[in-house]
Amino acid sequence: MSFNKLADQQVAGKTVLIRADMNVPMNDGVITDDTRIRASLASIRFCLDNGAAVIVMTHLGRPTEGEAKPQDSVAPIAARLGALLQQNVPVLDDWRERKPIVQPGQVAMLPNVRLNPGEKKNNAQLGEAYASVCDLYVNDAFGTAHRAEASTVAVAKSAPLACAGILLSAELDALGAALKNPGRPLVAIVAGSKVSTKLTILDSLADKVDLLIVGGGIANTFLLAAGHPIGLSLAEPALQEESQKIMAKIVAKGGQVPLPVDVVVAKTFAADAPATIKRIDEVAPDDLILDIGPQSAQALAGLIMAAGTVVWNGPVGVFEFDAFAHGTEVLAQAIANSKAFSIAGGGDTLAAIAKFGVGDKMGYISTGGGAFLEFLEGKSLPAVAVLTQCACAA
Ligand code: 3PG
Repeated sequence: MSFNKLADQQVAGKTVLIRADMNVPMNDGVITDDTRIRASLASIRFCLDNGAAVIVMTHLGRPTEGEAKPQDSVAPIAARLGALLQQNVPVLDDWRERKPIVQPGQVAMLPNVRLNPGEKKNNAQLGEAYASVCDLYVNDAFGTAHRAEASTVAVAKSAPLACAGILLSAELDALGAALKNPGRPLVAIVAGSKVSTKLTILDSLADKVDLLIVGGGIANTFLLAAGHPIGLSLAEPALQEESQKIMAKIVAKGGQVPLPVDVVVAKTFAADAPATIKRIDEVAPDDLILDIGPQSAQALAGLIMAAGTVVWNGPVGVFEFDAFAHGTEVLAQAIANSKAFSIAGGGDTLAAIAKFGVGDKMGYISTGGGAFLEFLEGKSLPAVAVLTQCACAA
């Protein structure tokens, strides 16, 4: 992949527009995890240190275009960014009426890009409007690289010059290198509520991995497909056949899909619901499986310890509730203590890594969720593809 990189650009005296992914989790207007803001600092600092004026744009959540609500405001993000950079970072609400003037060394933000009509549909005029505020457009939003939107694709076509930011380049380099020639056995842990949203990734991983560990609703659907009772657990019975095909594909090439032999169940989905450990075939019709059991966790930890590479997306239980966090914690510790190169991505996974304090023992933590999965799948990411086209045109 060949594209222009920010680190190679002369930015002195220029206005640089950086599309970052600062889509951070918030609770009542308070940022609960600023990892994505901190991960975006390298590009911003590079520009500031080299005499550029910086305008940052990001999306936040999935608001309705043209209908701003208080929770859609990027003001808390601008405040956090300002605190990290030790300068005031204004939000330029009138950027379309009045061309923004930002001084070299200063940073400003555009409002939430997803409030602009045309953003989601990759509208060309909106892309031109973004491009008109800058001399150089930088895409540093790896987490949004799988979306073809006006702030990720159309803008790159209209900007005087477009390039990849430091974070985007680093993500592509690290994930690409780890997956090009992975240490074996290659173990993927893919968990989440639905098989349907991860079906294509599971199918594509089936060709690549030696061992597939599934968790959450995906594991329940696989268990059902393998003939085990799952009670009232979250699952997609209609996808049993697909699940069987994925398991058969891996087994046919000598791999394994180790399903839980024991599970932690409850009668209700609640933090204080009494937790009971059961063998998988003892799950009752009114049980909810909320975690893998201790025997399964130990067995999977052993497999992870023997891996060459571990790719992790998704917790294997409801780790937010302490009674159902054990399985995810055992796996997280095994990944942390394994000699395998580990790559983790996805919002829930990052939250689990933070909860169990294993962040500094991961090989690489991606800021991407959906983008991370699409990259693993081998799909072309539209926001990266457009940068390669811009590089050819330059
Ligand atoms: C993410 O949180 O995965 C990215 O910011 C992309 O957000 P989206 O799924 O709303 O496009």
